[in-house]
Amino acid sequence: MRLLTVVFCAVALSLGVSVMSSAAKAEALNQGPKVCSECHKDEFKIWEGTQHSKSFKEIHKSPKAKDIIAAVGGEKNMKKNEVCTQCHYTMVGADKKAEAGPSCESCHGASSEWFKIHNDYGGPTVKREDEAADHKEARIANAAKAGMLWPSDRYGIAENCTECHGLANPKVPADALSKMLDAGHPAIAEWELVQYSQGSVRHRFYPPNMTTNAEMTPPELARMFVTGQAAKLVSAATAIGKVDNPKYKEFQQKRIDLAKAALAKVPEAKALIDAPTVDNARKLVAAIAEKDLSGAVGGDLPAKGTYK
Ligand code: HEC
Ligand code: HEC
Ligand code: HEC
Ligand code: HEC
Repeated sequence: MRLLTVVFCAVALSLGVSVMSSAAKAEALNQGPKVCSECHKDEFKIWEGTQHSKSFKEIHKSPKAKDIIAAVGGEKNMKKNEVCTQCHYTMVGADKKAEAGPSCESCHGASSEWFKIHNDYGGPTVKREDEAADHKEARIANAAKAGMLWPSDRYGIAENCTECHGLANPKVPADALSKMLDAGHPAIAEWELVQYSQGSVRHRFYPPNMTTNAEMTPPELARMFVTGQAAKLVSAATAIGKVDNPKYKEFQQKRIDLAKAALAKVPEAKALIDAPTVDNARKLVAAIAEKDLSGAVGGDLPAKGTYK
């Protein structure tokens, strides 16, 4: 989500003065998961089986939700409350209507600005298989510029999960996050990327076996684990300075301690541990891109049976 803001600002700057009148047009909007399902049937089916999807029909009815809303204030309907909607729903279109729980665009970026680019293989008659290599490269880069979060951006993907799951969404005032926590909103300091991404959420239908939802190899799992810890450390270190609420600080401190302990086994992570910035985290992820760290951190990986 932070990435999207940066992209939007860059576009706004390059357009200069005229942007003031067309700002609303340039804002990336969600289209909802059905639009993606037309081409991504396997991914859609998997998503439908996740808590992200099921939550839509259930969570607003929970008595706990009412208590949390009372503490935070604002709209009493959870699907309209501006604090809850940032993490719990896919708000579709310009009128921002809650149409699903967290879905495709919550993790891959609101699509209104990148959708056309994503679907253009080089002209109306060109099939994807026949797309020119340089066109494909440009299409991927341009979609990213327009706000698409590509799976190949491992750090971006991890950072995005931790914003919602670490109670550190920059779009929600830290004061509101503290009130939620005081009112009993769940906060899982142990949240870990491999455990949460390789169970119900996993969709990895990559070539050459596009019909197989591939499991990660041990080196891939180890890199995912380290990437998740890096994102967790940066998110917690950023969030902790935002409020004085003791419970919120304690939660973020616990996340910091857990992430640092995990990263201590990775020599490449030293600079990040000393200075937890996005820049250092991205450098770490780039430095380990080809490495097999399963020897260093393999023992800390969650057992497959515990995947969520
Ligand atoms: C018209 C068909 C079509 C639609 C609609 C579509 N996609 Fe895709 N998408 C593709 C194809 C084909 C690929 C395969 C890689 C490529 O050539 O871009 C792809 C690739 C992707 C990838 C990256 C895969 C990789 O290899 O890294 C993501 C993520 C993705 N789509 C997300 C979405 C989301 C989210 C939506 C809905 C907002 C969507 N797509 C809608 C056709 C589509
Ligand atoms: C920063 C993101 C974020 C915001 C903002 C947020 N939630 Fe949550 N909420 C989550 C996540 C993530 C979970 C799942 C637990 C976890 O992984 O930490 C959750 C879980 C819950 C649960 C527990 C579900 C269960 O069955 O245990 C309730 C109830 C809930 N949220 C209500 C709310 C309400 C009401 C609001 C608005 C006042 C709100 N949340 C705002 C991220 C958020
Ligand atoms: C909880 C976050 C999340 C949600 C929700 C989500 N994705 Fe993904 N998606 C990911 C991650 C993470 C990867 C990278 C997987 C990998 O490479 O290990 C990915 C990879 C992909 C890919 C490339 C791999 C493949 O399966 O072809 C496509 C295409 C894709 N997502 C489309 C979608 C669509 C369509 C939806 C909605 C129906 C969706 N995603 C929902 C996180 C998410
Ligand atoms: C837009 C906010 C958001 C993003 C981004 C997000 N999640 Fe979630 N996630 C939630 C909320 C909210 C819940 C709780 C839903 C409920 O319990 O009703 C949840 C629940 C889950 C669950 C179910 C947990 C359980 O105990 O049943 C898993 C697994 C999960 N998320 C994994 C991920 C992963 C992995 C990513 C990143 C690839 C991710 N999520 C990104 C908001 C988000």
